[in-house]
Amino acid sequence: MRQGKGQVLASPAEIETLDEDAAKQELARLSELLARANTAYHGADAPDLSDAEYDALKQRNAAIETRFPHLKRTDSPSDQVGTAPSEGFSKVEHAVAMLSLANGFDAEDIADFDGRVRRYLGIPEETQLDYTAEPKIDGLSLSLRFENGKLVQAATRGDGSVGENVTANARTINDIPTQIADAPELLEVRGEVYMSHPDFEALNARQAETGGKVFANPRNAAAGSLRQLDASITRARPLRFFAYAWGALSEPLATTQMGAIERLAEMGFATNPLTRTCAGPSELVAHYDVIEAQRATLGYDIDGVVYKVNDLTLQERLGFRSTTPRWAIAHKFPAELAWTRLEAIDIQVGRTGALSPVARLHPVTVGGVVVSNATLHNEDYIAGRDNKGGEIRGGKDIRVGDWVQVYRAGDVIPKVADVDLSKRPDDAQPYAFPTRCPECNSDALREPGDAVRRCSGGLICPAQAVEKLKHFVSRAAFDIEGLGAKQVEQFYSDKWIKEPADIFTLKEHFGTGVKQLKNREGWGEKSAANLFDAIDEKRKISLSRLIFSLGIRHVGEAASNLIALHYGTWDAFDAAMHAAQDQEGAAWQDLIDIDGVGAVMAGSLVHTLAQPAERASIDRLIAQLDVQPVARPDTQGSPVAGKIVVFTGTLEKMTRAEAKARAERLGAKVSGSVSAKTDILVAGPGAGSKAKKAADLGIETLDEDGWLTLISDA
Ligand code: IVH
Repeated sequence: MRQGKGQVLASPAEIETLDEDAAKQELARLSELLARANTAYHGADAPDLSDAEYDALKQRNAAIETRFPHLKRTDSPSDQVGTAPSEGFSKVEHAVAMLSLANGFDAEDIADFDGRVRRYLGIPEETQLDYTAEPKIDGLSLSLRFENGKLVQAATRGDGSVGENVTANARTINDIPTQIADAPELLEVRGEVYMSHPDFEALNARQAETGGKVFANPRNAAAGSLRQLDASITRARPLRFFAYAWGALSEPLATTQMGAIERLAEMGFATNPLTRTCAGPSELVAHYDVIEAQRATLGYDIDGVVYKVNDLTLQERLGFRSTTPRWAIAHKFPAELAWTRLEAIDIQVGRTGALSPVARLHPVTVGGVVVSNATLHNEDYIAGRDNKGGEIRGGKDIRVGDWVQVYRAGDVIPKVADVDLSKRPDDAQPYAFPTRCPECNSDALREPGDAVRRCSGGLICPAQAVEKLKHFVSRAAFDIEGLGAKQVEQFYSDKWIKEPADIFTLKEHFGTGVKQLKNREGWGEKSAANLFDAIDEKRKISLSRLIFSLGIRHVGEAASNLIALHYGTWDAFDAAMHAAQDQEGAAWQDLIDIDGVGAVMAGSLVHTLAQPAERASIDRLIAQLDVQPVARPDTQGSPVAGKIVVFTGTLEKMTRAEAKARAERLGAKVSGSVSAKTDILVAGPGAGSKAKKAADLGIETLDEDGWLTLISDA
């Protein structure tokens, strides 16, 4: 909202009295006034006009122009929707990461969730454990930073640690207060921006009429509207906001989740009226049913119900896995379904050589989204078998020409779920899955126990190489502005970029000389310079992103984080992978001991990094980069930072998982076995051989209370 003192605004009668000179002067004054208001509004945090005042000035300008069309200025405010920002949104580093939620799909998943929470905290079945349940809004999350009650920044989730600064846009949303009373000095409110059904319909009707973009669903409309470089466009879009969480705080909001939500409501935020506290999984699922029954009439999209541990002290103890909190889960609604014709089956070759069958469908609307492609998983799935040779879909295979059922759940890629045999064309043939790579004609092999057939061509397969590159530049990897999948494909097909390292020598090879980027179709002086700058910017890269970007099979984003955290620097990681190559010995044990890294992933890591061609390609890449060591959590003053700790026996005040997580937060390394390198053994009752070994080695041994005293001040 614009706030502040306005000027005296004119009536139509007053405009009638203006002569040409006065009108000309007035148009000049208005143009300047509005331009200044725009700049103040976009840039500074003290806008000088209220919304109403701004709109009235614009109207006055338009009225004068209507009376004196020939006096309309070339820089008329009527032709501007706002200040044209010179570039995209600036980036905002979140003080507290914006995470996502683990998913559950049925009552059993929710009972398991409750079980996990209880085990972690050591809370027995008999003790009541409260949760909150609230709708999961299908919009996009936003973090609002208030300092001394004043809205100073709004940022999108982005990749969870860095988002986009959309402050000017957030200020246009009515549900978001710009000033709150009785707020902590620092308060980050988090919640969901969304668009209601009626507003979405009206917007699309308007867009269709004016030849603008028509949105597929309310979430896309909300995202497209919030991420407008011109805030005056956002202002014209009816966005709403529900607050449901918080980030950095100078003081706690309450002692419970429900208390905190109530406090946010008192401060003037919209909170969801269907939020309840529930005593355990059966009440949660009962409230889920209540919410699901109202889903169609709520007037906005929701895609499930979110459950959160109510007690904030317990939330704190439970903490986070790499990307999701342990204290919350999203209970998703079942997927949406539709039937359509399967027109063809195409094979795509992925970065690890996997041959993935893709269903080309006659376009069909599933839950408001037009679907024309869906995954068919693998050859067994098409044949109607599961990975153990058992039947799926009652053994029905899928053939081109079939009438198939398509479903999608949330963001997940649509899937072909079922086939209607009664509608199968007489001439439909069983699908013959290719045994050669359709891209490079190498043999496509299936290893025993693997559901997937893979191209054996390695780096000679163009599809694998290009997919590896696309993965490399993707958002969770190097995320280079201006270098997306499309550009990578073009550069690859022209042999400008064959491997990741070539991205970083692009300027050297194509910045000057005969073939230059700026002379390519679709490029110019400025865009080429921008790309080179964007590439240079990413030479400095975090270890976790680098590991993820290598695209090693089984090594996803979460695992890359864990691995980076464990080794800290590229050199330490690389040396350890080398030492673990034979998949035995201390380095190998150390690798598979990382919580979240199993033998399969570890095997894939050390194997890939030891392949000569792969190795050489990675070395060329590393030579171009400045890999940042992991910023360790602030463990200054922690008496156990850098110490190797082993827990054994029964712990009574906390569970083993909690003890481990807490020790790691304080900078300790928790190991499963006692060795000469162990610094501290924490032994509860029933400790056996480990305690003896520690005593033999002269290692400091503490009981649980001793340990808690040691870490109490940290
Ligand atoms: S809590 C630390 N509550 O769902 C977890 N999230 O799938 C904070 N969402 O990124 C999230 N409604 O954008 C929470 N009532 C709700 C929500 C909600 C929608 C979104 C949010 C989050 C995503 C995770």
